[in-house]
Amino acid sequence: MSVTIISLREALQSLPENAQEPVVNDFFASHLLRALGFQSEEIYPEYNTGDGAVDKAARKTIDDDAFLHTKSNPYLLLELKGRDINLSEDAAQYQTTVKQIKRYLLAPNCKTVQWGIITNSCHIQLFRKHGKVIHPATKCLPIDANNIDSVIASIRQKIENPAKALTIAVYNNKGGVGKTTTTVNLAAILTFLGKKVLAIDFDPNQQDLTSSLGLPLSKGSVFEALTERDVELQSTLHPYKIPLKKLSSELRFDVIPADQKLIDEPENRLRNLLKLHTLYRKLELSRQEYDYILIDAPPNWRVFSQLAVYAADVILIPTKHNNLFSLENAAMAMKKFIPEVQSQKADGSPIPLPIFFNGEKMTPPQLAVAQQEISNIIKTAKKEGFDLLSYFYPKYSNAKKDLHIHEVPSYANIAGAAFSRIPAVYRDRSAHEYYKDLAQEYFLQ
Ligand SMILES: Nc1ncnc2c1ncn2[C@@H]1O[C@H](COP(=O)(O)OP(=O)(O)OP(=O)(O)O)[C@@H](O)[C@H]1O
Ligand SMILES: [Mg+2]
Repeated sequence: MSVTIISLREALQSLPENAQEPVVNDFFASHLLRALGFQSEEIYPEYNTGDGAVDKAARKTIDDDAFLHTKSNPYLLLELKGRDINLSEDAAQYQTTVKQIKRYLLAPNCKTVQWGIITNSCHIQLFRKHGKVIHPATKCLPIDANNIDSVIASIRQKIENPAKALTIAVYNNKGGVGKTTTTVNLAAILTFLGKKVLAIDFDPNQQDLTSSLGLPLSKGSVFEALTERDVELQSTLHPYKIPLKKLSSELRFDVIPADQKLIDEPENRLRNLLKLHTLYRKLELSRQEYDYILIDAPPNWRVFSQLAVYAADVILIPTKHNNLFSLENAAMAMKKFIPEVQSQKADGSPIPLPIFFNGEKMTPPQLAVAQQEISNIIKTAKKEGFDLLSYFYPKYSNAKKDLHIHEVPSYANIAGAAFSRIPAVYRDRSAHEYYKDLAQEYFLQ
């Protein structure tokens, strides 16, 4: 029997207008995976994720370890739908499909997976997984015979050259909620846990991150790196080092300090010099070098926050349960600021991570009040067409009405650490545990 190998484009064109899932599976999926660079022995159908079967899993052959035979260490998951399932971004079926691929990506047998794709052969979307975090790597793109080759080529380019780093902007419009403290201690704990970390002080007005680590301010070099085409941001790095007596070694993470020159310039001149994409583009090399890039943003929606949010894959939003403004500002970021930036970026990022409560003691009646406020915020947002539920209550489902919100407790040794210029997690066992919990809750698999 002779097998005619047809192109992906021809495969797409051959699909009937109302192709259901089995047809998409039989006549489109393997062409798609081949166009993404996978051979037939690199693809396994109906792969058991440990939490349901995904339509296809794939991984390149390493030496003589062919994925089809060993089924070990999958790299990419593909969830297929028929054309009867509407995958345009505003459709309910799209939301359900996104939830499904996220569930598979986080399933026990998929720890090594870095990419997830959903498609019904009319739309396609790529998701990236970094540790525990899943974020879009493309928008949900319409595909047809005219654009399929270029769309798939751009997806292939991403999956063959994954950025090493997850870039996190720590942002809330409300001041004093713990953005800087979170950035410093997360950088410190992730370093302790063996990750390579870059922390950026992008709040030049306050310079708190730089001074809490006792590092010198930059006097124009960050400004220069951001505004001159041929100056690398790396040239402005300052290592923060802390000796580990027991191991006679040291921990080290890198810091881009606050730059005095960035506040000496008038805002309208800065706006001309710094484009929304400036920090993002300047971080290109760093994305290949670090595991985590953390950006401390100022408490406003002006030039530095905007560039920080644009540079990020995800936004971490500290709040206080007893500060309504911090909760309302979180909602404002989710409804307005982050979508505004998303619409300027090609890849559908950044997305908000669920909020957490930082640095306040909380009694059960206070928690009840906070939940009432949050419920009002979610209801109002719903009327405006936004579904914020999962950003406040990530564990909530119809089956299990779980209102868990992660909490970093109020703790004097966290507040006091800035005076010693050493992150609290390196000085204090409890602080160490609090931030390890935060890292595990949000980032680590
Ligand atoms: N978990 C905590 N326990 C005790 N104190 C905390 C905690 N988190 C933050 N703080 C203290 O709260 C104050 C505000 O924190 P931080 O400077 O990190 O907030 P911020 O959001 O960066 O503020 P700004 O908006 O001014 O940049 C600091 O004095 C800090 O030490
Ligand atoms: Mg701050």
